[in-house]
Amino acid sequence: MPLPSSVLVVGAGGREHTLVRSLLASPAGPRVICAPGNAGIAADATCFPVAADDVAGLVALAQAEKVDFVVVGPEVPLALGLSDQLLAAGLPVYGPKADGARLEASKIFTKEILLKYRIPTAAAGIFAAEAPALAYLKAHPAPIVVKADGLAAGKGVIVAQTDAEAEAAVREMFAGKFGASSSNILIEDCLVGEETSILVVVSGREYVILPTSQDHKRIGDGDTGPNTGGMGTYSPAEVVTPAILQRIENEIVRPSVNAIADEGIDFRGTLFIGIMLTPAGPSVIEYNTRFGDPETQVVLPRLETDLLDLLWKAARGELAGTELRVKNDYTLCVVIAAQGYPENYPKGDVITIPPLAHNVTVFHAGTARNAAGELVTNGGRVLGVTATGPTLAAATAEAYAACDAITCRTKYFRRDIGARQLQRQ
Ligand code: AMP
Ligand code: GLY
Repeated sequence: MPLPSSVLVVGAGGREHTLVRSLLASPAGPRVICAPGNAGIAADATCFPVAADDVAGLVALAQAEKVDFVVVGPEVPLALGLSDQLLAAGLPVYGPKADGARLEASKIFTKEILLKYRIPTAAAGIFAAEAPALAYLKAHPAPIVVKADGLAAGKGVIVAQTDAEAEAAVREMFAGKFGASSSNILIEDCLVGEETSILVVVSGREYVILPTSQDHKRIGDGDTGPNTGGMGTYSPAEVVTPAILQRIENEIVRPSVNAIADEGIDFRGTLFIGIMLTPAGPSVIEYNTRFGDPETQVVLPRLETDLLDLLWKAARGELAGTELRVKNDYTLCVVIAAQGYPENYPKGDVITIPPLAHNVTVFHAGTARNAAGELVTNGGRVLGVTATGPTLAAATAEAYAACDAITCRTKYFRRDIGARQLQRQ
């Protein structure tokens, strides 16, 4: 099959801006459009005001614009069955159908698969009511992790350091804090170690492991404060040595891909495996069924392989034999957020981006244009400032120089992205 000549990217974040840029860089020269997009994406590709969770609207847009391929960014439309609907309309799509998206949309479903196929993961109890969950906590003191089963925009996981915190989390969840998403919960052992994000392009039983990366989930320097969607990333994550990566492939990636296929799921999309590198070995924290944000912002710029060709082969079931070509450099992304994120934050603050070094790319997330045409903040995570360099130190210096040069009254960013790896060197 020839490569598609016209692609729709679904989503509005930094991940989608990165996908748009990488797809536009394909030697095949595709037309790329996006829905709903943001102010940065709009500078690169035509954006259409169809929300990422408007499944019928997105199918109609893909048909009206006569695209021949759809790449889905976020988890919500996948869980709502966007890929099922597109395929039913005869449109090839990269991103799993609802049965595959359930691996992210239900942590209990995933835990059951991990246990059934003996893939390393934390021991856990599964509960549909408060009383047995509280009784389990009595037998399993803190630190312990309480998780809502369903999607909760990254907020449904409480790593409780005290018994009181764990109890409060259980009570809140059964009181409906996350609606139907927390009517069932998991309580699992707390894993200790460093985390890494392993993004895998999957097509049935075939897979390609993308370059390693590490995210920084907490809002504050030194990994303090509440969890966020991700405040910064770098690639490669050298804590994943070649020997550890081999273990991850043998003990986690291959068994996961086969388990999913054995369960009768024809998964064609990104399996993003969150892994804790514990003293006993790598252990699965979670599956996501999409590219990570902001992992994508550091992983895709390192690919020499044509992303369009890679995703198209995965969608078509033609991934076998694909070899990945990766650049021998380092990337680091600092997320500029609006002060107040991940709680309440203002919108509409003017952003000024001066000319930046050639090896710095600013991927837009929550940005828009105001009535005067100025670039303004329009979300919690606003920009992903990504730099490339021959060393992590060089990439870090460039990214932070750019973050300092960008002006916005409410800008906030962590100062220590990449610090762990830099300190090890
Ligand atoms: P998730 O929403 O599943 O990505 O979880 C959010 C974060 O909670 C993860 O990135 C980890 O930092 C932390 N986490 C989740 N499960 C565990 C666990 N079993 N032990 C320690 N930390 C965990
Ligand atoms: N950066 C973590 C995620 O995309 O879920």
